[in-house]
Amino acid sequence: MASWQTVWITGGGSGIGLEVARQLAKSGTNVVISGRNPDKLQQACDEVKSGGITGSIQSLPCDVTNLDSVKAAWLVLLETQGIPDLVLLNAGDHQPVSLDNFDPAIFEHLMKVNFHGVVNCLASVIPAFCQRGHGHIGVVASVAGYQGLPTASAYGATKAALINAAEALYPELKLKGVDLSLINPGFVRTPLTDRNTFEMPFLIDPEPAAERIILGLQKKQFEIAFPTRFVILLKLLKALPYWLYFKLTRQLIPKS
Ligand SMILES: NC(=O)c1ccc[n+]([C@@H]2O[C@H](COP(=O)([O-])OP(=O)(O)OC[C@H]3O[C@@H](n4cnc5c(N)ncnc54)[C@H](OP(=O)(O)O)[C@@H]3O)[C@@H](O)[C@H]2O)c1
Repeated sequence: MASWQTVWITGGGSGIGLEVARQLAKSGTNVVISGRNPDKLQQACDEVKSGGITGSIQSLPCDVTNLDSVKAAWLVLLETQGIPDLVLLNAGDHQPVSLDNFDPAIFEHLMKVNFHGVVNCLASVIPAFCQRGHGHIGVVASVAGYQGLPTASAYGATKAALINAAEALYPELKLKGVDLSLINPGFVRTPLTDRNTFEMPFLIDPEPAAERIILGLQKKQFEIAFPTRFVILLKLLKALPYWLYFKLTRQLIPKS
């Protein structure tokens, strides 16, 4: 099982990222968390420390949509911690889209955060990891990226792009000694899903989600997807012919 001395987590100030940070810091890892809001990050660090940790947790503010901001944060990380062993590219956002709020600005925003945000970080991480000859990258996508589902035309597309990019990069990185894991969670109770007004199937808390992510990363799994029953259901759905697929997904259109 792999263990890490230093881990960088983007979107580490809340939700899934914060819970992974908490569990790692508790078990002796030096964790650095990034997000846009310095106060929120500091608060998250204080809260994690107050729970008792044997590692450390520090905040490193950065906006993943801004390449200069990411480059500057990466340099600070190198100066203070050295090249991390693991980076978890987890920062993300979600907004539902249906026909009555079909706005290109939502697509642009979500693509900027969820996809280009990861790409901006990879542009710093990949050269350093490849030059060193080892390192582990975790990319947080979503089961929403498996196939098109009602209200997720923007969010799902950003996550599908991430899945595709991760599949494309994996073999080349592996040749350089660098591991890549693709994390596809189902519904997890976080500030992001607290906004949802519909009943979320197979909803889980951040604690088991973080445990599952850490275990999968330790085992160096390529895909870390959970909860299992939901993942199987969605993968079966994807295998259906479109006429049957749309018959079923039609049921998910919100009643207006
Ligand atoms: N919760 C779920 O059910 C679920 C399911 C599948 C996948 N996911 C994915 O899991 C990841 C974490 O989501 P979560 O549910 O834990 O939501 P969350 O609590 O809202 O966390 C998202 C984090 O991303 C940060 N962030 C947003 N925009 C950013 C930017 N431009 N630069 C840097 N940081 C930014 C936010 O911090 P600031 O606002 O302070 O920047 C926030 O801490 C996301 O990629 C999400 O798509 C979540």
